[in-house]
Amino acid sequence: MSDPIIRFDDVTFTYAATDEPALHSISLDIQAGEYVAILGLNGAGKTTLGLCVNGVIPTMLGGNLEGKVTVAGLDVSEYPVREMAKIVGMVFDNPEFQMSQMSVAEEVALGLENAGVPYEDMKRIIPETLELVGLAGFEERSPLGLSGGQQQRLAIAAVLAMQPQVLIMDEPTSNLDPIGKQEVFDMAAKLNRERGMTVIVIEHEVEVMARYADRVIVLDSGRVVMNGTPQEIFSQVDALGELKLRVPEAARLAQLLAKQELWSGPVPIRTESAVEAVNELLGAHNV
Ligand SMILES: Nc1ncnc2c1ncn2[C@@H]1O[C@H](COP(=O)(O)OP(=O)(O)OP(=O)(O)O)[C@@H](O)[C@H]1O
Ligand SMILES: [Mg+2]
Repeated sequence: MSDPIIRFDDVTFTYAATDEPALHSISLDIQAGEYVAILGLNGAGKTTLGLCVNGVIPTMLGGNLEGKVTVAGLDVSEYPVREMAKIVGMVFDNPEFQMSQMSVAEEVALGLENAGVPYEDMKRIIPETLELVGLAGFEERSPLGLSGGQQQRLAIAAVLAMQPQVLIMDEPTSNLDPIGKQEVFDMAAKLNRERGMTVIVIEHEVEVMARYADRVIVLDSGRVVMNGTPQEIFSQVDALGELKLRVPEAARLAQLLAKQELWSGPVPIRTESAVEAVNELLGAHNV
């Protein structure tokens, strides 16, 4: 296997003026082109993990970092955040707070200007990137007049304009309505599938992660406590319950049926497979 695009080598990070590490002895490899979901309760260390990848930790947010985080072969602690933004783009939960410009085009241009991209190139990159997120022709619109889903896609466009290899989304849809959520997840899946972009999503929407992610990493109190395929992780209904984490409804249904000895097959994690399973069950009972 080729070198991972992201490597955590025994990383422990403690924020300045705190005693407890926010991340504990994390060792982790993420391959280029993977779609990884990060799950965990509030305070588990999910955002901290993301900030270690984009280099904000340790470069801008102070604290004590032990071990080493490598992104595209570069040691993040030795690489300027501004340069790292060309490799890793990160978007947060509240798109409105990420908007600061008068027009959609200026919003996308901001990062490019900071990175010193020539105006001639910007004229090409801006429409290309807006096209990529389904906002073609929106250049002159006001960011604040967009729907939540459109604003989040604009925030994503602003980081994609830098042509990063990795896109990190930190609870990108928690302030969006169901349509906005769908827009953002569809777009991320498309970038992953069609462009081979490495996608890391910090997310509570387990149904969505069961559908899109290649891998699920569960954090608890700063430690990686589970790391596997969605099937491997979400079929552990009891273990996730002990961590106070949700599982897809399909998996919960299978578990309830199993407790009544009505189901003994593999645990479905998607609604469609649960429906198939229930149909089989009904067939077997001649219902
Ligand atoms: N800037 C900071 N300074 C000091 N401590 C911090 C800072 N940011 C986070 N922490 C602490 O680090 C730990 C991990 O926080 P983090 O924000 O990474 O968790 P999270 O999993 O993203 O939580 P949430 O689901 O609430 O976003 C928590 O104990 C938190 O209080
Ligand atoms: Mg967070």
